[in-house]
Parts: sequence; C-alpha cells; structure tokens
Amino acid sequence: MAYETLLVEVEDDVAVVRLNRPEALNALNQKLMRELAEALAALDADPAVRCVVLTGSDKVFAAGADIREMSQKSFVEMFTEDFFTPESDAITRVRKPVIAAVAGYALGGGCELAMMCDFIIAADNAKFGQPEINLGVVAGIGGTQRLTRLVGKSKAMDMHLTGRFMDAAEAERAGLVSRVVPAKNLMEEARAAARKIAEKSALTTMVVKESVNRSYETTLREGLLFERRAFHALFATEDQKEGMAAFVEKRTPQFRDR
Ligand code: HXC
Repeated sequence: MAYETLLVEVEDDVAVVRLNRPEALNALNQKLMRELAEALAALDADPAVRCVVLTGSDKVFAAGADIREMSQKSFVEMFTEDFFTPESDAITRVRKPVIAAVAGYALGGGCELAMMCDFIIAADNAKFGQPEINLGVVAGIGGTQRLTRLVGKSKAMDMHLTGRFMDAAEAERAGLVSRVVPAKNLMEEARAAARKIAEKSALTTMVVKESVNRSYETTLREGLLFERRAFHALFATEDQKEGMAAFVEKRTPQFRDR
C-alpha cells in the first residue's frame, strides 16, 4: 500500500512505519494522521506482521501537529471535526505491539504520538517536549494525561508550563522512554526488540498489552483481577503448554498463536 506521508516496509515479521514529511519536520497534518490510522489498522490485520516499529527520520520523529494547517481553524471546526480524536483512537486500538523509535525532536503531538505507542526507544539525540503553551494552546492528544502518568506531576507540569525540551538521558531517568541507544544504532535496536517480541505467542503479547494498559484505566483491585483472569485464561491455550513444556525439556518453544 502506498501512502503520501508514510513509508511502510515489512520484513521478518516486523513492520516499520516511517513518518515522511521531511519538508515540515514530520508535522502531523490531517493527511498523515489519517494515513497512519489506516496503515496501522491494515498492519494489525496482516498475518505477516507480528510487531510494529513507528519511527521518523534520524533528525526528527515529529515536530508536533501541523501549525500551518491548524492556525486558522475556529473552535467550531476543531470541535465538529473532533480534531485528531478518531485517528488517535485508531492508533491506540492496535492490538499488536507498537514500539516508537525516536530520534531527534518528538514535540507536542509528536511526543504524544510516541506516548500512544507501547514503549519508546530513544536515540541519544532525542528531544521530547510539550511546547504547545508557546502557541497559546495545550496538548490535545493525550500529553497532559499520558506524560503525567509516565513521569509524574512535577515533571509533567514543568514540561507543559515552561515548554522546555527534555533530552534522552532525562527522559530515560524520568521513565518516559524504556532505553536510550546511540543514534546510529536506533533502528537496529528497535528492529531487534520487535523481532524478539515477534518470536512470542501473539496471543500472549496481546494479553500483555491489554493487562498493562488496564493499569492506566482502572483501580489496582480491578486491574489485579483482570491480570489474574488473563493469567488463568492463558492456561486454555496450546502456547502455554508449549512454552512450559519447552522450558522443562530445555528447548526453544515453537509458538503457534493458539
Ligand atoms: C508545521 C513545522 C512544524 C510544525 C516545524 N515546521 N515544525 N511546520 N508545523 N509543528 C516547519 C518549519 O515551519 C520550517 O518550514 C521547517 O519545518 C523546518 O523548521 P525550522 O523551525 O526551520 O527548524 P529548526 O530551526 O531546526 O527548529 C526545529 C524545531 C522548530 C525546534 C522543531 O521547528 C519548532 O519549534 N517547531 C514547532 C514545535 C511545536 O511547537 N510543536 C507543537 C505543535 S502544537 P519552512 O517552510 O519555513 O522551511 C501540537 C498540538 C498537538 O503539536 C495536539 C493535536 C490535537
């Protein structure tokens, strides 16, 4: 499938989706957000894909929503269009694991998009920020909520109120990213992580996603119950039998997603 604003390639069970609007530092315009939602839904349904890596260029992940496209919009237009909500919902509905591989700027909607992914691997040149305050607006696709949950109130307030950028080392210390790697190795590391995930049972990876995401959406008691039921339910799968038998027999498991 060809897209105007994305490059998509699939190799070894892993899809790499590259944001590709270099003339605007990968700013997220409506076309890109629609194409991204469509591409991720297609990859989610594609049996040749077991894990997705979302990335930008080696200089920029995404510099935020497209300011030129947004600048003249009225409240009524933003509200009626429900700006970027259907696309964001579609992105977070993907059931396969999605890794964000971030080099360079991930600002505003770019940082929010990275946080919609399951985890973030950052290049050592990555810079994260929520600078919407400098434009007279606030984050609009999850930044005040997801950043706060990831890094805590104090740092989230600092980022949103001052608009300052966080470098990769600070982002790792704060828990925004799972690991920092040398910029030149970013895609190799992200692909290796994706291939490792692709070796697991797809049933189990989906249950892991659902269970971890539950922790954001419910009380501890309900989340623990969800996890326990999920854990018990996996004993109805062949992959649980295979995984445990392989351990006992000291061999590599052959998961069959059933
Ligand atoms: C549209 C953008 C853009 C953006 C950069 N460009 N960011 N166009 N929307 N968000 C364009 C510039 O206008 C310029 O185009 C070209 O990309 C290169 O950018 P420069 O500024 O010349 O590059 P540089 O000096 O290297 O600075 C990089 C930068 C800066 C620090 C990332 O571009 C920047 O501050 N960008 C805006 C970041 C931002 O405020 N993001 C939040 C957006 S609001 P020309 O044609 O002049 O070459 C948001 C809300 C989300 O994201 C909520 C959604 C619902």
